[in-house]
Amino acid sequence: MVNSRDAIEEIRSRISVTDLVSEYVTIKRAGKSSKGLCPFHAEKTPSFTVNDDFGTWHCFGCGEHGDIFSFLMKMENLTFAETLERLAKRAGVELDQYQNRQTSRKDILVKINAQAAAYYFEQLRRTPAALEYLRGRGLADQTIERFRLGYASPAWDGLIRYAGNKGINIKDAEEAGLVIKNDRGGFYDRFRHRIIFPIFDIQERMIGFGGRGIGDDQPKYLNSPETPLFSKTRSLYGLNLGRKSIADNGCAIVVEGYMDVITAHQAGFTNCIATLGTALTLDHISVLSRYTKNIVLAYDADSAGIKAALRGASMFDEAECDVRITRLPGGEDPDSLLQKGRIAEFDAAITNALPIPGYKLAILRDKYDLSRPAGRTAMLKEATKVLAEIPAFADRESYIKEIASYHPNWGTGTTRAEDHIRADVDALVNRRHAGTVIRRSAPGTPKPVAALDKAEQSILRILIVGGAESEHVFGAITPESFTGEINSRAAQLLFEMFAEKKGIYLPELLEKADEDLGRFISELAMRDEGPPIIDKALQDCLALIKNSRVRQAKASDVMAPYIKDGLIDPNYWSGGQPPGEYADYLKKSGRLTKADE
Ligand code: UTP
Ligand code: MN
Repeated sequence: MVNSRDAIEEIRSRISVTDLVSEYVTIKRAGKSSKGLCPFHAEKTPSFTVNDDFGTWHCFGCGEHGDIFSFLMKMENLTFAETLERLAKRAGVELDQYQNRQTSRKDILVKINAQAAAYYFEQLRRTPAALEYLRGRGLADQTIERFRLGYASPAWDGLIRYAGNKGINIKDAEEAGLVIKNDRGGFYDRFRHRIIFPIFDIQERMIGFGGRGIGDDQPKYLNSPETPLFSKTRSLYGLNLGRKSIADNGCAIVVEGYMDVITAHQAGFTNCIATLGTALTLDHISVLSRYTKNIVLAYDADSAGIKAALRGASMFDEAECDVRITRLPGGEDPDSLLQKGRIAEFDAAITNALPIPGYKLAILRDKYDLSRPAGRTAMLKEATKVLAEIPAFADRESYIKEIASYHPNWGTGTTRAEDHIRADVDALVNRRHAGTVIRRSAPGTPKPVAALDKAEQSILRILIVGGAESEHVFGAITPESFTGEINSRAAQLLFEMFAEKKGIYLPELLEKADEDLGRFISELAMRDEGPPIIDKALQDCLALIKNSRVRQAKASDVMAPYIKDGLIDPNYWSGGQPPGEYADYLKKSGRLTKADE
């Protein structure tokens, strides 16, 4: 198998990424890098950046990034093997010389998944009942193919036997989560008598599977376990097919299930994606929010769906996304609605999706019998609480108008009704303010202090592109010094590479990173900031990071005054003792200001 590190590195060193890109895109020199219109999404101002020093490219619009290999793959729709061949030829590198080297663990799992998917696909062709199931759910053959759906037979060893014939190592299949060990040391198929939904990452690698029982088998849906390739808390179903449409539409529709995504795509809503039966996580949000900040949630119209939608929406809201929630007709989910051909209704539900407060008010109006005075009063009482949660006065006003007609004073005049509601809301707002000194983040979602986050990223940028300058920084701190979630992950990877290679090579780094981390690192590197210089400001950053160890730090006596003044979010300071030095630093520098938080 030709997949050698050395060959790739040699080819990379011989081909200029600027030369390659400029054969497809008109780019203009801008400082150290060149800029042009991104070939991977529609844009009017150039945000596609190419840098020969790093050997990489990055689009600040859609977030796509990579090296010569990924560029050509995407541009020409090639497989990696085809790309390697083409670029080797261009670089004058003999691939034969590099054969039979180790392939990485992940590559092996990707290959096994693809083989398994081919098997499941074949099984679907041969099993009329399975095909009928999918057709019966309204899927066109084209859709079945587009999503590469398959079928696993009821046999205990269907895939195992296939794997045997294909020379697949059973241990590898186990690591891929496709087979499970029994207590006698044998193996059996994980997926049996199920429709198979392959799950892709956005590099179109098959990273895992979902399987829906056709009969009454429980659970209804079964997913691949966590593997070195697959993590449910990060993966979004349909993003590989939908990301272009999401970027083009400037909006993503988030739904709950596999079938919702598939039917929505079939009906033309190609900007639709779903989580994989897990609650929405911050990782999902950070993946998605790089394509768009406009989110519409279209969850099931049942009480669990409403609850999940409200929870998800407030997480998107905290992440500064513009989030709205649809109200589907009772008892329906996107799939069931679209299957009945009610496409216009779904479209209207998307168009009329409501921001969080509006959605909450709509729910309240449904909850009570508004034809009776008691129902109206009860609704207004709860609505007051919803309104009191809205930070901006102007936003509150429009909602006050929305519910004023339910107020008993409505008959005596619009303004009187509105005045009454406003007074109630204001009273509640004031009471809340009196009780809390600082704005607290939602529990479980610690918000890094912005100044620290920025400092960490300045340092990361030096580690990535600082060349010789970075050496003493590597010596001065450890990956544990970083506190932000993505910052820590980036640091971890950087330190690993530095330990191994005594230097940082961006294309390789991007290869090792998963999608969102890769994008984060690429963006840091390609930022239009010129070469990093370790000046006074950065020395300060370093001191800040070196001394922080925020994770272990605690809201101790030293920190108490800062917390009280709202300078530091106590959710962020949990456990351990902050070094006095750091507290002093904060005090002297005044770096953590209210505006920073
Ligand atoms: P739903 O129970 O709403 O199913 O689960 P659905 O999408 O409407 O499925 P159909 O239409 O009956 O086929 C929503 C999602 O939750 C996950 C799956 O990802 C599913 O698509 N789920 C559900 C599981 O992971 N396990 C389960 O047992 C059930
Ligand atoms: Mn459904």
